[in-house]
Amino acid sequence: MSRPEHQAPPEFFYNEAEARKYTQNSRMIDIQVQMSERAIELLALPDDEPRFLLDLGCGSGLSGSVLEDQGHVWVGVDISTAMLDVAVEREVEGDLLLGDLGQGLPFRAGAFDGAVSISALQWLCNADKTSHNPTKRLYKFFSSLYACLSRTARAVFQFYPENNDQMELVTAQAMKAGFFGGVVVDYPNSTKAKKFFLVLMTGGAAPLPKALGEETDHKGVSYTGKREQMKKMRGKPLKKSRDWILEKKERRRRQGRSTRIDTKYTGRKRSGRF
Ligand SMILES: C[S@@+](CC[C@H](N)C(=O)[O-])C[C@H]1O[C@@H](n2cnc3c(N)ncnc32)[C@H](O)[C@@H]1O
Repeated sequence: MSRPEHQAPPEFFYNEAEARKYTQNSRMIDIQVQMSERAIELLALPDDEPRFLLDLGCGSGLSGSVLEDQGHVWVGVDISTAMLDVAVEREVEGDLLLGDLGQGLPFRAGAFDGAVSISALQWLCNADKTSHNPTKRLYKFFSSLYACLSRTARAVFQFYPENNDQMELVTAQAMKAGFFGGVVVDYPNSTKAKKFFLVLMTGGAAPLPKALGEETDHKGVSYTGKREQMKKMRGKPLKKSRDWILEKKERRRRQGRSTRIDTKYTGRKRSGRF
């Protein structure tokens, strides 16, 4: 089957029907969430400090929800109104902006502590209009991203490069814009689990993080298991637990958003009967 970015421009490909999958297809949701968790891990943020982050090509806010579950405040940018509508419907906490990454980001210099992007970057390698020049669009995007990040920030992109030339094009434009870094390939020996993460740094050259599953063949190590272990280690409440819900409600109140009061029923499992 041909790649999505060869079928239609993103603002048309991600229509209402496609956007719906991001709330209904549990397999797809799981994959996006797992990749978001790995991208956040690669951001290497200091523990237990809320950060102000960007989600580039945020879509329905699945990656944004992972950011907020980890206590961060985020702003999402996407070109598809249908995807952003789903994000609004899902009541994500991030602020959402409709925009084309290829035209550059409109944010204040140094405003963000980091950025993630899940399954969006390959779209910028495509020329959807005669006026589109992927090299120029990538450069415009990366230079505006570099400008709005702090000088100790990282930006992590999970993406699906079509071939080596595309990977080189993307990396070259990022470096030209001022970033350091490169591509981390998780599970390089597994066709199914192999994932590409472009890890960009603003604060000078530093060793790239270690890829997962390099020495051994991938035997189904799940990011989720690892995440839960890490959360337990940091003493954070597990997702959907009472403590997790109380923390999330407290965050919403701090942001001045309408939130139901806490009661003894908050977070209690339903019996299944109504
Ligand atoms: C596969 S979806 C992933 C959405 C989200 N990151 C997630 O993990 O669920 C790719 C997203 O990239 C967005 N996108 C593609 N090209 C874009 C562009 N030029 N500017 C902004 N968003 C773009 C699409 O609209 C779509 O929502």
